[in-house]
Amino acid sequence: MTRRVLITGCSSGIGLALAHRLAADGWQVLATVRDARQAPILPAGVEVLLLDLADSASIAALAARIDSLDALIDNAGYGLVGPFSSFSLAQMQEQMQVNFLGPAQLTQALLPALRRRGGRIVVLSSMAGETGLPFNALYCASKFALEGWAESLAHELPAQGVQIALVEPGGHRTRFGANLRWGEGLHALHDAEEQQLRGYRAMLARRLAQPGKSESAVVDAVVRLLASTRMPLRTRIGGDAKALHWIKRLLPEAWAQRLLQAQTQRMLQPAAGDDAVAS
Ligand SMILES: NC(=O)c1ccc[n+]([C@@H]2O[C@H](COP(=O)([O-])OP(=O)(O)OC[C@H]3O[C@@H](n4cnc5c(N)ncnc54)[C@H](OP(=O)(O)O)[C@@H]3O)[C@@H](O)[C@H]2O)c1
Repeated sequence: MTRRVLITGCSSGIGLALAHRLAADGWQVLATVRDARQAPILPAGVEVLLLDLADSASIAALAARIDSLDALIDNAGYGLVGPFSSFSLAQMQEQMQVNFLGPAQLTQALLPALRRRGGRIVVLSSMAGETGLPFNALYCASKFALEGWAESLAHELPAQGVQIALVEPGGHRTRFGANLRWGEGLHALHDAEEQQLRGYRAMLARRLAQPGKSESAVVDAVVRLLASTRMPLRTRIGGDAKALHWIKRLLPEAWAQRLLQAQTQRMLQPAAGDDAVAS
């Protein structure tokens, strides 16, 4: 029987690359996009479905169309960035809805379909699901939420014949950076936040000017998980994700916190000439 996988967020980045790879590997791929005009970028044979994770009716309508699944890849998501004080309540709610509550609702609705085939759930978390990062307070909160949720399900689901795994990439060059949404309140910041914002924008600009890692390592890791007999709960991808993990794992908590804060203070400190870099 051909294996069926549903992948969310296939208009770009990791989701799009996974749809190509799994279709080439012989999977029947159901790929979600928010806008039907994005369908042509997906390979022939892939079934394109509409899904907006911000809209629970859209999630319920999609799930109602699927009766059996070998794998669900909860991939779609975006980053909300900026000083915490700049986020509106609506922005905070949408970040939690799209990155956490939407995937939770979708997964819950698809459990019967997954149970029918002894299915697997792969959740795209992030190194930001294990470590808090400045100017990413709500993004980190949404990924920490995914981590606690999936870790809990890892206790419940195996008895139902379903496995779940978290994938935690570090930085990879997809459309994620271009799709970042900024806090709406950037015009009314405290002086210290203004300064940190200059440093942060300059750091992002410097990072974008360097060659980035493609998403291929993430795709390979997901393919390996789908092929493994028993999926490990967490897979970290990239030197940055692994380094953060080991710093927190090996050092006493207070030392790790001091080390990480020293690094992030440097990151948020504008250097001479940064305004030119960031503009
Ligand atoms: N790239 C990285 O460095 C990195 C690192 C760690 C974790 N991740 C995680 O990996 C996942 C994929 O990100 P990516 O790097 O491939 O970024 P990407 O290129 O921006 O792709 C994100 C996908 O999510 C979709 N999406 C956004 N909001 C949505 C919504 N409301 N409903 C349904 N789909 C929505 C986007 O669709 P639209 O085109 O319609 O916006 C797009 O297809 C995300 O969960 C991200 O948090 C990425």
